[in-house]
Amino acid sequence: MVFGKFSPKKKPQRAVEPDCEPVGLDIGTSNIAVYKNSDSGLGGKIEPNAFFCVPSLKTTKDFLDRNNIRFLEKNDSLYILGKPAMEFAGMMGQQTRYPMESGMLNLGEDEGINVIESILSSLLGQAQSKDQPLGFNVPGKPIDSNTTAMFNESIFKSLLENLGYRPRPINEAMAVLVSEFPDGHVTGIGISMGGGMCNVCCSYLSIPVVTYSIQKGGNFIDQTVAGSVGESPAIIRIIKEQNLDLASAPKNSIEHGLHACYDNLFTTLAKSLEEILGASDNVPKLRKAVPIVLSGGAVLAPGSREKFASILQDVTLPFEVSEIILAESPLYATAKGAYLIAKEQMNSK
Ligand SMILES: Nc1ncnc2c1ncn2[C@@H]1O[C@H](COP(=O)(O)OP(=O)(O)OP(=O)(O)O)[C@@H](O)[C@H]1O
Ligand SMILES: [Mg+2]
Repeated sequence: MVFGKFSPKKKPQRAVEPDCEPVGLDIGTSNIAVYKNSDSGLGGKIEPNAFFCVPSLKTTKDFLDRNNIRFLEKNDSLYILGKPAMEFAGMMGQQTRYPMESGMLNLGEDEGINVIESILSSLLGQAQSKDQPLGFNVPGKPIDSNTTAMFNESIFKSLLENLGYRPRPINEAMAVLVSEFPDGHVTGIGISMGGGMCNVCCSYLSIPVVTYSIQKGGNFIDQTVAGSVGESPAIIRIIKEQNLDLASAPKNSIEHGLHACYDNLFTTLAKSLEEILGASDNVPKLRKAVPIVLSGGAVLAPGSREKFASILQDVTLPFEVSEIILAESPLYATAKGAYLIAKEQMNSK
């Protein structure tokens, strides 16, 4: 089962043992984020969920060791992990590889599971106590393909158990809602727009009544524009992250392409809300208007919230929207919400 009811306002709460603090984790197509209490206080850490493969030479290994760069050695190859993988690939004019695609674990990447295991081990370390609670994200069922999140859930669970944690799957978009409304029963829509997919959750009094995903996100934007202008997706991603402003008119053909792809992504999302929520018997009749929370790296483009709000005007939803808000830290909201839900589940035992 994916999620339980999140009910933050419980009566007297049992004190949490210091060594039993929960951990929140977000394993995504582009990044792995962790939210936990550490020596520097409560906060997040993030690492690209990426690797770059080079031949296993002694000189390369010595260089990586000397510079404390994490790598895996397998079959005469060195797999450089996380941020350094992006830097090496960039320097050599080559593409980074990813263990996940469109939000799902890519079992076609032979070393993908080992790569994730190694990044998790460096970000999380071993559990501080046996069965330390950990909430980790799982996507909703895609409405635009037949792929399954079954592998994510069961494989990540076993990797986390090996590190000594007691992992609990939590819907990604539910975690986003809880991250922004931690103090009460939340009714609203959470949306996480990441690199590989968009996750949606409609929550009623903290019960996730409708969840789904669309396998389109930041990578779709990069690849579509790259294909059209004859550049690599990695270059388009850099331009998108550094220069794009959806509130200003596009200044060149790449920016025109980026604007058009954002339009396409937001329109797909808005129409899906109209179709899926409109057709669902699980969405209660709401008298009060409800908020929509936008999160995930794709909403970091300035002007995203306003553009999405304007596209949403063109569809009819089964309830009024009170406000559209951006998560405080779009790259960490899922991990933070997973932490809060894991903590609540722990306290309500
Ligand atoms: N400033 C920015 N402007 C636009 N897009 C950005 C910006 N910064 C990051 N992104 C995009 O955000 C995406 C990564 O977001 P995120 O870390 O939320 O995804 P993920 O959780 O790993 O993926 P998913 O949830 O789809 O599996 C990438 O496509 C990246 O290019
Ligand atoms: Mg995500």
